[in-house]
Amino acid sequence: MNFNLAVVAGDGIGPEVMAQNILVLNEVGKKFGHTFKYTEVKGGGCAIDEFGEPLPQHTIDVCKASDSVLLGAVGGWQWDTLPGNMRPERALLGLRGALGLFANLRPATLHDALKDACPLKPELVKDGVDIMVVRELTGGMYFGEKGRKQTDMGEAAFDVEQYSVKEVDRIARVAFDIAMKRSKHVTNVDKQNVLESSRLWRSVVLEVAKDYPEVTLDHLYVDNASMQLIMRPTTFDVIVTGNIFGDILSDEASQMTGSIGMLPSASLGEGSLGMYEPVHGSAPDIAGKDIANPIATILSGAMMLKYSFGLLDEAKVIEDAVTKVLNDGYRTGDIMSEGMKQVGCKEMGKLVIERL
Ligand code: IPM
Ligand code: MG
Repeated sequence: MNFNLAVVAGDGIGPEVMAQNILVLNEVGKKFGHTFKYTEVKGGGCAIDEFGEPLPQHTIDVCKASDSVLLGAVGGWQWDTLPGNMRPERALLGLRGALGLFANLRPATLHDALKDACPLKPELVKDGVDIMVVRELTGGMYFGEKGRKQTDMGEAAFDVEQYSVKEVDRIARVAFDIAMKRSKHVTNVDKQNVLESSRLWRSVVLEVAKDYPEVTLDHLYVDNASMQLIMRPTTFDVIVTGNIFGDILSDEASQMTGSIGMLPSASLGEGSLGMYEPVHGSAPDIAGKDIANPIATILSGAMMLKYSFGLLDEAKVIEDAVTKVLNDGYRTGDIMSEGMKQVGCKEMGKLVIERL
């Protein structure tokens, strides 16, 4: 098969980790008879520098016309003082919105070989961690009305947290469908003891659950969830939650994997077009030094093969190659531990390719 991919490598370590992802995909393509054609477009800080805006219309158009989008990372200190709608992050949020990517899947899996890199006590993770965070991605306060106003306490600012029945229904279905293919357990995370939006959220999740009688559903308030995640990480399967809670909990879950440099993500909408990116950011402090961990980006490529193109064997080959590299003792700096062999970004990519 032939696939047209839009590539938004972005800023900082984005281009380095993306380069390894592309090499891996090309090799998989060779082995299985697929060709990937890449169209590079600018988004984030590099687009601000070149075009004066973080997300040029051209980038949106190319992404929309592609079979899927690969994204590296956006952001950097150079652009930190720009006003909100001109910041590099606008590229990410704008693409999520423009492409209708409402479902964000963030699988936090702890490889056996990385148990030492996980900051939790060994007895807490000895049964293995395998959590799928399903985060709503185009609603909530990220996309709600925002603004400033005068109050009797002086100037104030607001970001409205709003969810409609339809928005909750579709993300809940994504979570339940995924749970059906895993351990059939969904944990809904909200704050319904305080927030009206969470009360609606929970009532819709309960409604959707009726269509999935085989799935066990439980609920946690977000504050409690953040605590339970580090107390009993092995007991979670699928977590479904809103945009802001999912942002926070997925960073927490990323630490279960040993490093945020291990966590891939998929952003999906109604069709097969998805956007695939590592959960980590642009890490400007280590950019250009060939020391970044490309595994999260490489695993995002595998998620694309699985979720957008249904190429399960091809995806598995990448996942297995990553596991082998780790079992063989190779580590980038972020997951380095005693007795292991430390390698750079390019070398890590090469080691994965050798094991495909
Ligand atoms: C993420 C990031 C983004 C978000 C930022 C960079 C806008 O933290 O993908 O989790 O908050 O969604
Ligand atoms: Mg985040």
